[in-house]
Amino acid sequence: MRTPGQQHEATVIAVTSGKGGVGKTNVVVNVAVALARLGYRIGVIDADFALGNVDVLLGLTPERHIGHLLTGEAALKDLVIEGPRGVKVLPGSSGLQALAALTPGQRTTFNQAVADMRSSVDFLFIDTAAGISDNVLETLLLAERVVLVTSLEPAAVVDAYATAKILNGAAREREIGVVVNGVRDGNEAALAFRQLDLAADRFLGRNLRYYGFVAQDPLLKDAVLVQRAVVDHLPQAASSRCFRILASRLAGMGPIRGSGPRLARPVTALPQDDEVEQCA
Ligand SMILES: Nc1ncnc2c1ncn2[C@@H]1O[C@H](COP(=O)(O)OP(=O)(O)OP(=O)(O)O)[C@@H](O)[C@H]1O
Ligand SMILES: [Mg+2]
Repeated sequence: MRTPGQQHEATVIAVTSGKGGVGKTNVVVNVAVALARLGYRIGVIDADFALGNVDVLLGLTPERHIGHLLTGEAALKDLVIEGPRGVKVLPGSSGLQALAALTPGQRTTFNQAVADMRSSVDFLFIDTAAGISDNVLETLLLAERVVLVTSLEPAAVVDAYATAKILNGAAREREIGVVVNGVRDGNEAALAFRQLDLAADRFLGRNLRYYGFVAQDPLLKDAVLVQRAVVDHLPQAASSRCFRILASRLAGMGPIRGSGPRLARPVTALPQDDEVEQCA
């Protein structure tokens, strides 16, 4: 487990999905804010280049965004803004079709931004677009952990498998953790995970890792409407509890590689046992 504030290289966690709209960005912002509330230094890169909305979900109104970095109009330090709980956000661009496929030069600039941001945080989250374009795949390859978000919907599970397959083809050893979003309880989540894991086992000869689930929660929508992370706006909401579990689980996993030490306890209390039962 990592201790907030201790010197080490950040763990880069990319969050992706096959099907769109399954909750990636909400997972990113809420797990990021939950970890920041525990005292960790957190960065978020909105790498949904064409339809980024991390800033919208966090109520931020940046004047410039990653598009300005990629076109060379602005430097990283002038673009990163502070979100809730000190989370550093590199905002995404919205409506810039030209960025749907990065040029090699833009990819180099992006990779450098990831390297720069990771040097000053404990965890760096990268929110990606849905689907498995070259842009997304190359972004996933920068991360130590890939969080694959799916809903219970068969189409989402099938598309999640397709994403796992392509990622596996490119980086077989890469850990793929699954988060099932929008379910009634852990049983429903386990159902979706088992389908996915069974397919991976049978056809890819590997297993996926279950990271947890997020409950279907009308209060999360309330938080989205007021542009706040639900873990901040409504900490007692069912989804907030699930995000805290995910956050502490990710913190507990520690670094996969690099020089970071395996560390003791976070400064703040971990989620209560009843939360673990509800969201594990
Ligand atoms: N657990 C949940 N309970 C209730 N509503 C949810 C939940 N998760 C997501 N939603 C709803 O689904 C919407 C889409 O979520 P989000 O933007 O996080 O998905 P996404 O996967 O990032 O989408 P995209 O593929 O467009 O980037 C949210 O704005 C919210 O209204
Ligand atoms: Mg999104």
